[in-house]
Amino acid sequence: MEIEIKGGAIPGRGAIAVAVGKGGKLSPAATELDKTTEGAIKQVLRASRFSGNKGQQAEILAPRGTRLDRILLLGVGDPADMTQNDLEALGGKTYSAWASSGVKQGKIVIDSDGLASKTRLTKGAIQAHVAVGARLASYRFDKYHTKLKDEDKPTLETLTIGTRSAAAARDAFASLDRVAEGVFLTRDLVSEPPNILYPQTLAERCQELTKLGVKVEVLGEAQMKNLGMGSLLGVGQGSTRESRLVVMHWNGGRKNSAPVAFVGKGVTFDTGGISLKPAAGMEDMKWDMGGSAAVIGAMAAIAGRGAKVNAVGVVGLVENMPDGNAQRPGDVVTSMSGQTIEVLNTDAEGRLVLADALWYTQDRFKPQFMVNLATLTGAIIVALGSEHAGLFSNNDELSERLLEAGKTVEEKLWRFPLHKNYDADLKSQIADMRNIGTGRGAGSITAAQFLQRYVNDVPWAHLDIAGVAWSQKATATAPKGGTGYGVRLLDELVRRYYES
Ligand code: BES
Ligand code: MN
Ligand code: ZN
Repeated sequence: MEIEIKGGAIPGRGAIAVAVGKGGKLSPAATELDKTTEGAIKQVLRASRFSGNKGQQAEILAPRGTRLDRILLLGVGDPADMTQNDLEALGGKTYSAWASSGVKQGKIVIDSDGLASKTRLTKGAIQAHVAVGARLASYRFDKYHTKLKDEDKPTLETLTIGTRSAAAARDAFASLDRVAEGVFLTRDLVSEPPNILYPQTLAERCQELTKLGVKVEVLGEAQMKNLGMGSLLGVGQGSTRESRLVVMHWNGGRKNSAPVAFVGKGVTFDTGGISLKPAAGMEDMKWDMGGSAAVIGAMAAIAGRGAKVNAVGVVGLVENMPDGNAQRPGDVVTSMSGQTIEVLNTDAEGRLVLADALWYTQDRFKPQFMVNLATLTGAIIVALGSEHAGLFSNNDELSERLLEAGKTVEEKLWRFPLHKNYDADLKSQIADMRNIGTGRGAGSITAAQFLQRYVNDVPWAHLDIAGVAWSQKATATAPKGGTGYGVRLLDELVRRYYES
């Protein structure tokens, strides 16, 4: 689908969407259409429960007095209260209403004074967010369907955003659309099946970012062995697929300014290893590389829109398999930091991958901060479900910034505690630490506490995204499946606080 941004005139043909405020208050475009249709919109208000409340929707087919095919009424409640996310949801819902409806050309005209006036968004940005909402909703992953019938394919060819601020909106949308491309990349990677996407092929997908100006280095097992990454390598030891560590550099900032760093867990399939997971639902573990996919998508977004920042993305890519050569419960491995780990459960593998990836990142890049993303624990799903990701951090300022960015882009976070008293749970009889806690309590916190031992006091935040990387239900701006969580969050963090 093509998205174009043009003037706000009401089109002669196709479909149009207009805003209606609470209490049935018609926007200028809705007023005009109500006249041409001899009161069809007011009739809808009388004849249905649609009253212009935020999120409500009603559609008129073949409206009288015009050659339009449809008029979609979008409830906006009090227009001043519309948030960035509400605007995106509105764009997304309009897309979904028309996508497979037979409509080919649609136009959204919701210019009205005071729309989203409580945000700090400019008029152009407001329309750009409507546009990007539609873009995000239009995602599909259907490359493996060879028998899609024509009637299952989208019909909508062009979606036009009509506004008096078209030039400014186009500029703002160009940047947001690059971010949406990052989100799509993440969704694609998370959706790929694990026989297609494994460490080597995921590393190859990273290399495609060179066309955006990202420098990409791929480390193989021999190099990681030389660096002493025994913790990461132990996880991949049972797989016939070789492990990889990929480093992505975007240098958009000042020459000598320290980079921001993003680190991702990339377990391309997590069987649990010798501590094998149950069969039911194991297929979900193809998206155990969701943290790495978010980092890759964020790097694509940041580079794609030319962010004025130096950023590095580091992803640890492994496959966790049971095998004659696999790591055993009870093995002791030595991490790059020199600390030894008694591996008591081979299914607590994400932290083993991140231990070396985090240590390597702070050691080599001396970053301003590190944010790691990982589908790390089932326990975070028990605690937060799929509304918030878990935030764990040794730094209040970084935490506040992440929380704020998360609210803005509707990729919400909830902060959990770190505390030295949890460390007792990680004591090992024969090594520096064990990779699981002793009891059943606070599983997400002990995992974070483990990671903290590998950050060397650099400002750091760990985002446990196990509950949010994949969605069982569609939202206004994403079909079910890979959500792309993290891309917009990291992009917003950089946009707001770290660009020079
Ligand atoms: N990848 C899983 C966590 C996970 C579970 C993500 C469900 C998404 C959905 C992780 O590697 C894991 O297996 N964690 C264990 C840790 C335990 C063995 C201490 C868990 O959460 O059960
Ligand atoms: Mn696991
Ligand atoms: Zn895992």
